[in-house]
Order: sequence, then structure tokens, then C-alpha cells
Amino acid sequence: MTDKKVYPVQPDIAKNALVTAEQYEHMYRQSVENPNEFWGEHGKRIDWIKPFTKVKNSTYDYNNLSIKWFEDGVLNASANCLDRHLADRGDQTAIIFEGDDPSVSRNVTYRELHEEVCKFANVLKEQGVKKGDVVTIYMPMIVETAVAMLACARIGAIHSVVFGGFSPEAVAARIVNGKSRFVVTADEGLRGGRAIPLKKNVDAALKHESEANVDCVIVVKRTGNDQVPWTEGRDVCYEDLMAHASAECDPEPMNAEDPLFMLYTSGSTGAPKGVLHTTGGYMVYASMTHQYVFDYHDGDVYWCTADFGWVTGHSYILYGPLANGAITLLFEGVPNYPDSSRMGQVVDKHKVNILYTAPTAIRALMAEGASCMDGTTRDSLRVLGSVGEPINPEAWEWYHRVIGNSKCPIVDTWWQTETGGILIAPLPGAVDLKPGSATRPFFGVQPALVDNEGNLLEGATEGNLVILDSWPGQMRTIFGDHERFIQTYFSTYKGMYFTGDGARRDEDGDYWITGRVDDVLNVSGHRLGTAEVESALVAHDKVAEAAVVGYPHEIKGQGIYVYVTLIQGVEPSDELKKELVQWVRKEIGPIASPDVIQWAPGLPKTRSGKIMRRILRKIAANEHDQLGDTSTLADPSVVDELIGSRASN
Ligand code: WTA
Repeated sequence: MTDKKVYPVQPDIAKNALVTAEQYEHMYRQSVENPNEFWGEHGKRIDWIKPFTKVKNSTYDYNNLSIKWFEDGVLNASANCLDRHLADRGDQTAIIFEGDDPSVSRNVTYRELHEEVCKFANVLKEQGVKKGDVVTIYMPMIVETAVAMLACARIGAIHSVVFGGFSPEAVAARIVNGKSRFVVTADEGLRGGRAIPLKKNVDAALKHESEANVDCVIVVKRTGNDQVPWTEGRDVCYEDLMAHASAECDPEPMNAEDPLFMLYTSGSTGAPKGVLHTTGGYMVYASMTHQYVFDYHDGDVYWCTADFGWVTGHSYILYGPLANGAITLLFEGVPNYPDSSRMGQVVDKHKVNILYTAPTAIRALMAEGASCMDGTTRDSLRVLGSVGEPINPEAWEWYHRVIGNSKCPIVDTWWQTETGGILIAPLPGAVDLKPGSATRPFFGVQPALVDNEGNLLEGATEGNLVILDSWPGQMRTIFGDHERFIQTYFSTYKGMYFTGDGARRDEDGDYWITGRVDDVLNVSGHRLGTAEVESALVAHDKVAEAAVVGYPHEIKGQGIYVYVTLIQGVEPSDELKKELVQWVRKEIGPIASPDVIQWAPGLPKTRSGKIMRRILRKIAANEHDQLGDTSTLADPSVVDELIGSRASN
């Protein structure tokens, strides 16, 4: 059993670690037994304009739900990431920018970043952005994206970053839902040597969506492609505005519970929801987890390969590291460009000490063979991290042995957009590692397992993963829909936060996340709702009905398997399959591309008309012998037909 494989805490790591095994036990106990005292102390790691006097004020009581942390404190997130470091480390590098093109890189100091952020904050004000306004950021992975996010935080505007890989339709939906009147974008992005037409996509989004009410689009020059379309009176040039902007901008005093940002993520039903995070608790939690989980020491070079479009980019490229005065590497490109040695090359070039990446990237490199690390030593690495999806033990071992030269602990970090920061992960100097297990909760986090009726399960067992009490980084609401927030997270099991994940707990009390138990897919670490892909498909005029499920995929973790029923009279064909794949890419983005399309004359439904996805998942995974009970189906013969046609697909 892989369970039995344990990598004990390494003495060399424990010797210098911020938290040892004894300290972890002691601090964890204190954090759950006396959260007010614990977080009252650790809340001071952040600079407050007006210190808080209250710490935790939360209840998961379903009828009375309320989550507040440090509620009377006043602070500013950008001041915590910038101003407070100027005296001691103004000339230290804050961001190492590594371009898509390996010959392009530059270092930005805390002083320089502070200046740029102040200037852009003034630019935003000049364009009419006020405290509480939503600014949509649709950008590549460049320094200006960090500047835009921090400038919003500086003036109290709420940033809503939209992943640069999303389609115009997806951008439009997010602009409309957030009632955002301001967009920051770039002429084009650069990834893997290819240009991505960001500005053109914004134009298409605004044209497509008549409800979008955008006053101003600020365009950063990344490639300088002058073919980029321009709407006078609406579009303005970043460089022109920055050239005359003042570098003086006082940070806006924000209440701890004022919004910092929103970020759309997929759920099991409906359109993506705007997860809203507030300022105080989020900053305390993001910075503390960044420091302790990665055992970050001053001067360490830290590289998180995520994108700003996802929560990992928010908490662990930007806010956590910069609040800690860290050196954070910002990578514009992809791990296999110009070739698959790029990751090792970047580590060696910048002497990276801590590397935080996703299992899908590791599996993709693993498929290339160990030779993809040829010519690089990666000697500088000390700690490795994994995030986004369950890491299979084979990938864990490869990551440890090949990338980390068998000398770096791997912190498998489980968390979600909703949680703001890491909830379950081994602290490198404190907790023994088991390949595939996220192990132990962070301070203040109380995970538990429940059965489908919500009964708490004890001991070594498997169940639905819930969290029993609030932690500071928790989301506070869904933007514009508080009722949906309560329904989505607190109604399944009353009195608990439901994660949507399943997990196993072993004899030692370590947690092993088994994956989503709802209709959320995790494709290459990206969250997608089956309902989103289905609604994109049925919007096509040849599609009558569609059902989408995940299936095991060697590199992506999960692939997208689609069952499509065509409108009567439409002939199935390979061309039509291609057309549907293109259609979904256009509606959502390339990350939602179906991997397999199977024509389905009928779908397995209960007598009340509900699609039985359990059966579709089994057929997709080629586990026909484990279909379980099919007697409640309205027409059981549909299943045989699907199994028969799968073989010929
Ligand atoms: C999954 C990403 C197993 C999980 C930070 C969760 C993981 C969803 C892990 C959240 C991990 C994330 N092990 N599964 N270490 N990390 N997940 O919101 O299913 O993009 O619910 O946040 O990713 O994805 P999200």
C-alpha cells in the first residue's frame, strides 16, 4: 500500500524550520481551542492603520450565518505588500519577471513596484474608479498585472481578474455579473511563442454583450502590435497615462471586512460565481500560510507557476509573498517552451529555492522522461509544493526524485478559491510526508468527514470533507448573491462548510483528498462546471441534449467526456465533432475543450427525467462492469446502446 510509504521530516529541514513537530502540535491545539487568542496574536503580522480589538466573530448556524474577522481593524492590502517594506528592503527584488522568451527577464524592487502601483492607482482614479468599484483585469502574466491588482487594492477598488485563456463570451459574462465599468487588458499576451489577442477579445466581449456597460478600457502594450483595434473615447493607453501620473498616492484606509477582490469560479450548477474575499482576514491568512507552509525565510527565491487568473496566483504569487517581503518569481510562459527543460532552466537561472506547481505540469514533464531535466541541476531547490488536484503517488515520487534530487520535502496543499489560502498541507519541518496525502490541517482549520446524511465519522474512514469552523481567509459571500453563498456551502450539511470534495483519513489522522463529489470537473487543475459545458453545447443549433462527465486522464487528471444527442435529422460525423469542440472553445475557452464526444441517441434518465451521471461516468471510464443499480432508469436499454456505441467511437 502506498499509505505505508512515509518520508519522515528531514533533519536538515527541521533544523532551520519556522515550525517543528512539537511547535505544530502546540500551535494547532491553541489555534482551535482558543482562536481569539491565537489569531489575535498572529493578526499582528499585518500592519494595521487602526488595530483591531475584536478577533473572531463567526457562526455557521444556518439561519444566522455570519463570518467576520478583525472586524473593527483598518488596513490597506497594498501598503502591507509595499510601503511597509520600503525602509528595510526597498532595494530588494520584489518580483523577478521571467518572460515567455527565455532571453527576457528583469527584477523589480519593492521601491520600483511601490512607485508603479502608486502611479497606476492615480491613473485609475483619474479614469473615475472609486472605492468599491469593480475593475476587470484580463491580462497576461506580466508585472503590469501585479501593478493593476495592487493599485486597485490601494484605492479600495475590487479587482476581478479573468483568466487570459477565457473566451470573449466568458469575459463578457463576468463583466456583466460584476457590473464592472472598467477593464484593464493588454494588446496581446505571449505564451509559448504565440500571441493571444486579449484586446481583440475584450472588444468582442463588449460587442457581444449589450448589457456590458464599460466606460474605460486601459490597454497595456505587451507586444506592441499596432493592428490592435481602438475605440476612441473608451480605450486608453497605459503607457501614456503612466507617463504623467504622480507617484504619490496614500493608501485608502479599508475596514477589515471591506472587499479586496472577487474571482469567478465554477460550481456544480449554474453560471460561475464571483467568490468575494475581504481584506483583513485574507491578508493575515494568505501571508501566514505562505510563510509557514513553504517555510519561507528572508531572501529565499520563491516561484509559484500558477496564473493570476486563478486563486493560487492571487494568494501565492502576489498577496502572500509580497506581504512577507518575499522575492516572488513571475513567469509569463509555459513549462514546455522553448522545450521541456524550461522549468529546470528557470530554477537554475534565478536560483529558485521554493517551487510550487501543479500535478498536471509534473505529469506532462514525466511523460517526456527524466531527460527533460538534462542540463539543469536544480541544486538551489529546498522545498517543493503541489496544488490544484490530487497528486498521484507516481507523480509525487517523480517530482521528489527527479525535480527535487531526492532532497526536498513536497508540500501537497489542499485548498480552494473559496478558502482564500491553504487549509490542509504538511509543514515541511513538522509533518512526515506520504506521497498522495495532503496530511494535516493548517492552524485554525478543523476538517472533518461526514456521511451523506451529515453524520460525523470518526477514525480511519472515508467521507465528504467539511470544515467545522471559520478561518480568517474564508470567502464572505458570492458577489451579488448572498443567498446562493449560504445555499451552496452551508445547506448540504447544516452547521458546517461543505467543500464539495471527498477525502479519506488514515490511521494516523492524515487526510487524502479523493476529488470532487459534486458535478465540478478538475481538468489540468482548472475547475469547470459540467453544467457550463453542457449549456455551451446545447446552445449549438444541432445539439438537442448534452451530458458532460469527467474521466481519468493520464496528464490532465480528468478529461472532459461529452455525450451528445443531436437534433432529429442531423447526421453524426467526425466533422461535426470537430465543430462542437471548436464551439465549446469559443463559448468558454480552450481549457473546456471536450476530449471525447460520444453520440448518444438517448441518455440514461430516471423516471422523473434526471440524468444519471453515475452511469455515464462509469461508461466514460470504461468500467461497464460496475454500473450498479440501473433498475430505476426510465429506459434501461439506453445503457446497453451507449456501451455498444462507445466501443465503436
Ligand atoms: C482540488 C485551487 C487534491 C479540489 C487552489 C478543490 C486539490 C479544488 C488540491 C479547488 C490538492 C486543490 N489535492 N485536490 N492538493 N488542491 N484541489 O478553487 O477538488 O481552483 O475543491 O482552487 O481543486 O480548485 P480551485
